[in-house]
Amino acid sequence: MDGSITTQTTVNLVLLGPPGAGKGTQARKLQDRFGLVQLSTGDLLRAAVAAGTEAGKAAKAVMERGDLVSDDIVIAILRDRLADPDCAGGVIFDGFPRTTVQAEALDALMAETGRAITAAISLEVDDAAMVTRISGRFTCAGCGEGYHDSFKTPVVDGTCDSCGGTAFKRRADDNAETVGQRLRAYHAQTAPLIDFYAATGVLTTIDAMQDIDRVETDLTAIVAKALA
Ligand code: AP5
Repeated sequence: MDGSITTQTTVNLVLLGPPGAGKGTQARKLQDRFGLVQLSTGDLLRAAVAAGTEAGKAAKAVMERGDLVSDDIVIAILRDRLADPDCAGGVIFDGFPRTTVQAEALDALMAETGRAITAAISLEVDDAAMVTRISGRFTCAGCGEGYHDSFKTPVVDGTCDSCGGTAFKRRADDNAETVGQRLRAYHAQTAPLIDFYAATGVLTTIDAMQDIDRVETDLTAIVAKALA
């Protein structure tokens, strides 16, 4: 789908779902369509690792194992990014929060600036399919657009649809062994947030085993309704 929507009000969304559920893929689409900011703690942590910051040094081995980085580190990184002026127009939280401590910290951070979580959307998938999704994933090294060997290939082989770049990369933690641990961490520490957000009345679930365009249609309807 094409086009963007100009908004008078704003929304702050949490995308929940295990690794490979499509959080990043859909967050980028919502960002483009609604003018929201995609805030991915995975991307922020990978940038910290690449920059060799203290937080990045602490996070590197944890991420390679497929475990969760400590709440203190992630909340500090998130707090800094959330304070940037562009986030005032609405945020899509992609991969955050991942623990109850993080969810409570997010509520407190939002409340400090008179904001709140508008909707938490759980992308429901079968774990078994996630290994296939993740092991086939690659991204444009220039703009970060995501692709898949089978499910979403560039229109012109070897050229990014979004920016025309010709260099692509794969993530170090996208291997079957690490994906297994990431799925275990999701079910043990993050899945309880589905109940957390259900209790506050902002939870919606989506069948994310549908193809990418159908998931996008469902998500767009939820966000458009929230903005109406
Ligand atoms: P992070 O970067 O957040 O990774 P993740 O949660 O494991 O999620 P992924 O990026 O793997 O999956 P996704 O849902 O975005 O799927 P995508 O859209 O790419 O975290 C990495 C690590 O950082 C963690 O393990 C942890 O160590 C640390 N970390 C991050 N945040 C943290 C936090 N808050 N607290 C503590 N630690 C934290 O899609 C996957 C593939 O499938 C793509 O190739 C895509 O093209 C394809 N695809 C997508 N949707 C569909 C579809 N509907 N049908 C077919 N294919 C599809």
